[in-house]
Amino acid sequence: MDIRTAGVIGAGTMGNGIVHVFAKGGYNVVLVDVEQSFVDRGLQTISKNLEREVAKNKLTFEQRDQSLARIAGTTDRKRLAGCDFVVEAASERFQVKADLFHDLDAMCRPEVILSSNTSSISITKLAAVTKRPDKVIGMHFFNPVPVMKLVEVIRGLTTSDETFATAKALAEKLEKTPVEVNDAPGFVSNRVLMPLLNEAMYAVMEGVATPEAVDEVFKLGMAHPMGPLTLADFIGLDVCLDIMRVLQSGLGDPKYRPCPLLIKMVDAGWLGRKSGRGFYQY
Ligand code: 3HC
Repeated sequence: MDIRTAGVIGAGTMGNGIVHVFAKGGYNVVLVDVEQSFVDRGLQTISKNLEREVAKNKLTFEQRDQSLARIAGTTDRKRLAGCDFVVEAASERFQVKADLFHDLDAMCRPEVILSSNTSSISITKLAAVTKRPDKVIGMHFFNPVPVMKLVEVIRGLTTSDETFATAKALAEKLEKTPVEVNDAPGFVSNRVLMPLLNEAMYAVMEGVATPEAVDEVFKLGMAHPMGPLTLADFIGLDVCLDIMRVLQSGLGDPKYRPCPLLIKMVDAGWLGRKSGRGFYQY
């Protein structure tokens, strides 16, 4: 199917980044969120990030304006009915996503692929709430989306080869590198990354080292662009905790238990960069 207009649900960090790469890639985009202020904030971030690329001579003023003109922000979910491909990037709660997939299934043309940017929720379970389980797939982008090259393309048990081929080709058109992964808790990225971040938190909690020292070890010793605690703050400590809980319940091994310090910080509202305080102050 010819994809011209993409629908993106969620104007948060991941959603606005996904809209950015679709619009820059020449697609019309319908961006939906539940409140106009969320839509407006998402559009402002896209504008700022496109401006960044203009400042670096990676984009012309004309390309920036054309990209922005391709985006329609709205709170009216029904506008997704006309889209040729949908990426859901709403909050990381199964029931929120399941309700959305149920509604999208009723609203979108039968041939439209419904994808999720979930970082850990089962694609197979999301597919099962629709009448098109062969056309449901995971497209997991990475933050900051305009910069990171990877898209983890996750096949649910019922995802068809045709759906996978379309999603893979689409990721390539967005100038990303798709990597095929099967459906399992945390997929590959978060199954491996989150226990690393969680273990770094244990090291801080047990007084092995300060957050600064842990981060220096990984930046200078392993050439990570950000140390694990800076990265956890960047991702959001609430998101890290949600993913650890998905790993813990989905895999059942005690090695995936969330660090008590992480739980305590989330309880305090210290969510990392977005709340102004996490392992560091912003
Ligand atoms: N949006 C768009 N572009 C951005 C950006 C943003 N939010 N932040 C940085 N950039 C661009 C800059 O403009 C710059 O572009 P250039 O190469 O053309 O000059 C480039 O990224 C590098 O930025 P800076 O020079 O300002 O800063 P750094 O060199 O420190 O890089 C970084 C910033 C790219 C964020 C780097 O620190 C990095 O790669 N960090 C690790 C990020 C990471 O691991 N992400 C994955 C998180 S896990 C995830 O998303 C999965 C989820 O399920 C949890």
